[in-house]
Amino acid sequence: MITPILLAGGSGTRLWPLSRRSYPKQFTPMIGEETLFQASARRLSGTGFADPVVLTNAEFRFIVTEQLSAIGQDPGAVLLEPAGRNTAPAILAAALWLAQRDPEALMLVSPSDHVISDAQAFWAAIESGIPAARAGKLVTFGVTPDRAETGYGYLELVEEAGARPGPIPLRRFVEKPDAPSAQRMCDSGHHLWNAGIFLFSAKAILATFERFAPQLMAPVADAVAAARPDLGFLRLDPEAWAKAEEISIDYAVMEKSPDLVVVPFAGGWSDLGDWEAVRRSLPGARDGVALSGPATAIDCRDSLLRSEDEGLEIVGIGLEGIIAIAMPDAVLVADRSRSQDVKQAVSALKARN
Ligand code: GDD
Ligand code: MG
Repeated sequence: MITPILLAGGSGTRLWPLSRRSYPKQFTPMIGEETLFQASARRLSGTGFADPVVLTNAEFRFIVTEQLSAIGQDPGAVLLEPAGRNTAPAILAAALWLAQRDPEALMLVSPSDHVISDAQAFWAAIESGIPAARAGKLVTFGVTPDRAETGYGYLELVEEAGARPGPIPLRRFVEKPDAPSAQRMCDSGHHLWNAGIFLFSAKAILATFERFAPQLMAPVADAVAAARPDLGFLRLDPEAWAKAEEISIDYAVMEKSPDLVVVPFAGGWSDLGDWEAVRRSLPGARDGVALSGPATAIDCRDSLLRSEDEGLEIVGIGLEGIIAIAMPDAVLVADRSRSQDVKQAVSALKARN
C-alpha cells in the first residue's frame, strides 16, 4: 500500500490573475473540467493506494475537502500548515505523521499543479520504483528535457536512460540551475528533469532529514506532536511551525543525499508553472495558438488568449508570442518569454495595496 502525500499549499503566483492568494491555481480548472488538485488525487487512488494525506494551508482546508468529496474521495488526513514554509517542512511533517502509524510505509509525494496525460505509464513508473523505495532509496521520476528550463531540478544519471530496466542511480541532483548550466544539462543527453514527484519510505526520508537538514527536525516534530485536531483536520502547532526553516525539499535534502535513484518517465508530464506552460499544454493549438473561454485569434502565432468570463470576449489580431488573460477584475498581457516574471507583477501589486 502506498500513501499519496498531496502537496497543495503553494500560492501559484506565476499564474496570476487566475491563481489568487485566496484561491490558488491547484484548486482551479486550468485544463479540462477537473481542478489540478482533483486530477492529482484521482491519479493516485484505487488499488494499491491508501487514502491521501493532504498538506495545505489552513485557509484552503474546506476547498480541499469539498474538492475531494466532489470526486468521491475521503482524505486519510489533512494536515494544516499555519503558514507556508515550502515543501521540506511539509513533507517532513507528513513523514512524521505516517511513521507514527507505520515507519515502513511508502509515501508517494505529489505536487498538485501538474498534468500527466498517461496515467497508466505513471502507475507503471511508480511500480518499478517500489523495490528501490522499500530498500531505503529515494526514488525520483525523470522527464527528458526539451528546453533549458531554469525553473526545474535536473537529475544527472550515472548512465544513459534506458540502458537497463528499473531505477537508475543518480550522480547528482541540481535544483534550479542558471541558464548556461541548464543549457549544458539539456544538451548533455544524460540529464532528466525532476518531475517533483518522490517515492520513499517514511523511515528513509526521516533518516535523510536527520542527516542533511537536522535543523528542521525539532520544530517540525514539535509542530506534529502538539498538533490540534479540529473538525477532522489536524492543525500543526503554529509556534513550533514558525521556527521551521522555509526551504524546499530539493534544496534541503535532494541535492545532498547519495541515496537517490531515478525512474525515467515518458507519460506526458507537464508542470503548469506559468502561462507559457499552460499554452503548451492546452489541446488543439494551431500555429501554437491556444484559446480558452470566449476567445478569438486572427493571424496569431504562439500565443495564449484566455477569458475567464463567459461575458467577456477576448480577441487577438496579428499577435506573436503573447499571453493575454482576461478576468472580470484584472487583465494580464505579457510576452510569453516573460511568463516567469508574472510573480513580480504580483509582488508589485501586493506592495501597492
Ligand atoms: N503543503 C504545501 N506547503 N505545499 C507547497 C508549499 C507549502 O509551503 N510550497 C509549495 N507547495 C506545493 C506546490 O503547490 C506544488 O504543488 C509543489 O508543492 C511544488 O512546489 P513548487 O513551488 O511548484 O516547486 P517548483 O515547481 O518551483 O519546483 C519543484 O517542482 C519542479 C517540477 O515541477 C522542484 O521539485 C523541482 O526540482 C522540479 O523540477
Ligand atoms: Mg511547480
